[in-house]
Amino acid sequence: MFLHLGRTPTLVVSSAKVLNEIMKNHELTFSNRFQTTAMRILMYGRNNIGFQNYGENWKQKRNICVHELLSPKMMQSIRLIREEEVMKLVNNNLREAINNGSDVNLSEMIFDTLNSITCKCVLGCNTQDYGYENAKGLARKMINQLGVLTLGDHFPWLSWVEDVLSGQVQEFKETFGAFDALYDEVIVKKHKKKKMRTENHHENSFVDILIQLQEDGHYDLSNGDIKGIIMDLFAAGSATTSAVVEWAMTELMKNPITMKKAQEEVRRVVGQKCIAEESHINKMEFLKYVVKETLRLHPSAPLLLPRETSTSVKLNGYDIPEKTMVCVNVWAIQRDPEYWERAEEFIPERHEHSKVRYNGQDSQFAPFGFGRRGCLGMSFALDSAEYMLANLLCCFNWNMPPQGIDITEADGLVSAMKFPLHLNPIPFSFKQEQ
Ligand code: HEM
Repeated sequence: MFLHLGRTPTLVVSSAKVLNEIMKNHELTFSNRFQTTAMRILMYGRNNIGFQNYGENWKQKRNICVHELLSPKMMQSIRLIREEEVMKLVNNNLREAINNGSDVNLSEMIFDTLNSITCKCVLGCNTQDYGYENAKGLARKMINQLGVLTLGDHFPWLSWVEDVLSGQVQEFKETFGAFDALYDEVIVKKHKKKKMRTENHHENSFVDILIQLQEDGHYDLSNGDIKGIIMDLFAAGSATTSAVVEWAMTELMKNPITMKKAQEEVRRVVGQKCIAEESHINKMEFLKYVVKETLRLHPSAPLLLPRETSTSVKLNGYDIPEKTMVCVNVWAIQRDPEYWERAEEFIPERHEHSKVRYNGQDSQFAPFGFGRRGCLGMSFALDSAEYMLANLLCCFNWNMPPQGIDITEADGLVSAMKFPLHLNPIPFSFKQEQ
């Protein structure tokens, strides 16, 4: 579908066939990002990875992420942080809430846990340790604001309306200011002064590694570059992954037979211990299908991140002009009955003998995007989602609250649930069962 949103030519790709043509024949032409006011203000003038145009600066930052921050070695040390935070969720937070006898706001608990994991990986500790009690709310605010299209994005001559009347720009600036102050505190005052690094590169937080790279002069990195990269990881790290876990729990609650099958697998692999360890996860095939099916029905970024054409191009017989905003509607593509039998139903078993991959190789299933702009945190996200889900299923049985579950999707860049998922957990132990 081609349309004009104000002055912006816009292409919405909702067919796997057309996406395949882009992936195979025009990938580079579609590798820029569309710029919005929110992205410019919140992301250091787009001095980050996710919202910058394709080019040398973007390549350098992406290389740093791939080779230094999200390398397989780093994934090993992140594992310890993940275990610690998920154990806090199941052993402290959830059990405490049960003692209080109420439903739990599982959406919030999942988000908080993933946000703590991200903070610890990126900053080396929680934001509260820097006196930023409200950083969690700030992270949510930023994700929501990044999805906002202002009037000025499509009618530049009306951008003054945002400044003067709507107050949106002021709100973006306030969020940005709060994050920037936190980063100044972390980068300049704490990490640079105190040299909090250890000799073992992979045991350091991402900030320490970035400061080390800056000092070594190996990469040309300013403080602004470091802040931009950190901002990317905050924006990308928690909300996307937490949406996967909350939707997986929702679908399992709606499909009790599938829930039973998933819990039986997890508990069989884990045995009497009642706690899933990272080493167990690879033996949980069905759990992986549950996550895969969740990503099919509920892709966290239903339109990916908007791209922009760098030149004019002929696509599927049509002329697409330069600087066209491109939204790839993976939400629709992944529910297309031409490719998916009983497309609207949650059937993890469909992935058992399927050769369709979700890592950007197959156009009918692209929740992490594709090509050189594809997601950098796929392993990070999947490891966290699978590990957290395994423990939620292993340690508790779950009951629906009397009001049921509202499955309306939230608007915005990340498709979380509009209303938080409330459930009633009942601690599980094998002794009880016997
Ligand atoms: C389930 C969780 C996640 C999903 C579904 C997801 C999905 C996506 C999607 C759709 C894109 C845009 C791809 C494109 O335009 O083709 C993207 C980009 C990106 N993601 Fe993720 N993501 C997830 C988690 C993460 C995590 C945990 C991180 C980092 C720790 C991360 C880092 C990034 C970065 C840096 C980009 C920008 C890449 C670029 O523009 O070059 N993501 N992600």
